[in-house]
Amino acid sequence: MSALVSRPHRIAVLPGEGIGPEIVAQALKVLRALQGHGFEFEAREAPVGGSAWLLTGTPLPQPTIDLALASDAVLFGAVGDPRFDHLEPALRPERAILGLRNAMGLFANLKQVSVPAELAELSPLRAEKVSGVDLLVVRELNGDVYTGSPKGVRAAPDGPFAGEREGFDSMRYAEGEVRRIAHVAFKAAQRRSGRVCNVDKANVLATSRVWREVVIEVAREYPAVELSHLYADSAAMQLISNPGRFDVILSGNLFGDILSDAASVLTGSIGLPASALLGEGPRGMFEAGHGTALDIAGRDVANPLACIRAAALMLRHSLGRDDLAHRIEAAVTAVLRQGLRTADLAGGTRVVGTGAMGDAVVAALG
Ligand code: IPM
Ligand code: MG
Repeated sequence: MSALVSRPHRIAVLPGEGIGPEIVAQALKVLRALQGHGFEFEAREAPVGGSAWLLTGTPLPQPTIDLALASDAVLFGAVGDPRFDHLEPALRPERAILGLRNAMGLFANLKQVSVPAELAELSPLRAEKVSGVDLLVVRELNGDVYTGSPKGVRAAPDGPFAGEREGFDSMRYAEGEVRRIAHVAFKAAQRRSGRVCNVDKANVLATSRVWREVVIEVAREYPAVELSHLYADSAAMQLISNPGRFDVILSGNLFGDILSDAASVLTGSIGLPASALLGEGPRGMFEAGHGTALDIAGRDVANPLACIRAAALMLRHSLGRDDLAHRIEAAVTAVLRQGLRTADLAGGTRVVGTGAMGDAVVAALG
């Protein structure tokens, strides 16, 4: 084989449970439609989450981690099921998400939320408030109170409730950790409208004061990018009252978790925007970023568009195919403009199922 013949891209497919498998199937359908003309991929599937626990007794089996690490990118469906809430935390489906982020060294979560004027009717906010919104939430994904030690359950050592059982976690950010995510945000802003809004609670938290100082330091390396700051509570309010003011929102893991879901729903449904999870190299994990929606699972009504957009992000960030990413994104916008809607979306002229929505995107690829 000639060295010039490039091997097919290796995609690890982790469908999970609930609507995960059906939305991932639509994303793969769209990717398959793009094959040929220099784009080939091999998709290997592995269990993750509650479905993996049922099969193997752990939500993140070692072979699933190995597959992810041996692949160029991971396409992730959804995990989570209240039937597993009784399990100890280490065995719950959500632990698979955190374990994969850790194993793959993913520290940046990029969620782009855009509301073109003609789709503003989908939003729960008044159309004039959201029309033209185009923002990117850059969330640090590896540290903060999620992973900071010590954490646990103990007898309260002091305070008015001393001796009672208490839960405790540690909010922590080291300078280097802040610096690397700040660079991600400033670089993204350079390619966009050139504005970063840093979100923290520097009025209350020592963690946030260090965070903010480092962000200000990093900003000096990007003189063309304008930096502003908001406290997290105020940022939440502004996302609802004036979302058009934002370009790039930079925040830590916990505040970013909340703000990225709040920002997502500006589009009208958490089933629309997609999420890229990135580390130092090109390999990333890509997901719709919504839950398993067990109430509608297996009924061909789930919205596959966020997962299809996740496939586009995978092409862009991990597979070096920005051209194909654009084609998918344009096709998704086209089907929405045609008036096609899954049941979670308002307005439109025709309600379609999961599979039909996937077919429509394929047809719109051109
Ligand atoms: C997300 C989710 C996860 C998080 C949970 C399921 C652990 O909400 O991907 O945003 O909090 O990071
Ligand atoms: Mg979340």
